[in-house]
Amino acid sequence: MNMMTELKSNALFVDQFGRGKRKLRISVTDRCNFKCVYCMPEHPEWMKKHDLLSFEELYQFCDFMVRRGIEFIRITGGEPLMRQGVVHFVAQLQNLKQLGLKRISMTSNAHYLKQYAQALKYAGLDDLNISLDSLDATQFKQLTQKDLAPVLDGIRAAQAVGLPIKINSVLMSGINDNQILPLARWSVQQKVILRFIEFMPLDGDRKWSTEHVVSEQHILETLATEFAVTTQAHDSTQVTSNPARQYLINNHPIGIISTITNSFCGTCDRVRLTAQGEFYNCLFAPQGLNLKAEIKALASSEPLSEVSLNGALSGYIWNKEQGFHAIEQRLNNQSLAKSSRKISMHMLGG
Ligand code: GTP
Ligand code: 5AD
Ligand code: SF4
Repeated sequence: MNMMTELKSNALFVDQFGRGKRKLRISVTDRCNFKCVYCMPEHPEWMKKHDLLSFEELYQFCDFMVRRGIEFIRITGGEPLMRQGVVHFVAQLQNLKQLGLKRISMTSNAHYLKQYAQALKYAGLDDLNISLDSLDATQFKQLTQKDLAPVLDGIRAAQAVGLPIKINSVLMSGINDNQILPLARWSVQQKVILRFIEFMPLDGDRKWSTEHVVSEQHILETLATEFAVTTQAHDSTQVTSNPARQYLINNHPIGIISTITNSFCGTCDRVRLTAQGEFYNCLFAPQGLNLKAEIKALASSEPLSEVSLNGALSGYIWNKEQGFHAIEQRLNNQSLAKSSRKISMHMLGG
């Protein structure tokens, strides 16, 4: 391969605003044993098992994407630990590190983590983000319809095997905003990194409204009632975009992911694939790109499959819109929450 071809094949996918894509999120299942109100519809219609891409097909897609500049892969769901074979998939993805993949991560609700933590560590998982929206067992059950204890056990198991973790807490006004201080205190005691997340209009039943959003400003004001809060200097050596704005509370790091009041869309370097092969250039993209046939062709090494996948992806990624606020405005100020898009967070994996 001459140098020009090599450079070309590794060229990043870039969108019309010059944002290169370095992070790929793969949802391996839409199923979840939790029913977080901000994510799951009351009556989910699960994808049919036979419609899901196999792990081999997902792997071949990841291989292709890494050769096109993806450096970070995050495995999501639904709940990724509900899909059998996911640990092996993590192990298989290690092969892509020789092609330029830097990290393999996962986002989980941690309910099954106690039994999987060691295996995930052995499989080479680099880090794990865990959802935890309340430390109050009753409130936790109201939020998820499951118990808190297995999640705390899962967190301890991950720490015991040395898996780096971050905790995600989505805050909803009048529902769990009383957890800001308890979760912050707990993160300091546990020495784990916590990120508070502003509730986004991606809930399954489209009940989102601005009144439910707990803003970054409010979170900071609440934290300041108990902690010395300072802004953490931006790490200019970091080439990838971080969704969270970084602060210190009593010198302990904490993040806030504030898509609604301070979106990070301007530097977004992410793309995502659903478990049945639908590709999204943005969490809020009104339309995905169905790549199932192309991915299956790629996995069967059909001639020209790389060329057709590349063509389909380049155009779709190029047309990525500016971000959350631009999409909302384009939809005629009709909130995304009320738009006709059928896909919600449990299929997109966040
Ligand atoms: P790190 O790379 O470890 O920072 O992971 P992450 O924050 O991207 O992953 P995680 O799955 O933990 O997601 C945390 C929150 O960020 C969730 O609420 C996601 O929905 C949100 N998030 C992830 N990617 C995007 C994105 O592209 N746009 C927006 N608006 N939010 C995102
Ligand atoms: N708004 C903000 N964050 C959400 N998540 C799921 N649904 C929403 C929403 N509507 C978060 C979960 C999980 C991550 C993958 O996405 O907390 O940590
Ligand atoms: Fe399940 Fe995660 Fe969605 Fe909660 S946020 S319902 S844990 S997929």
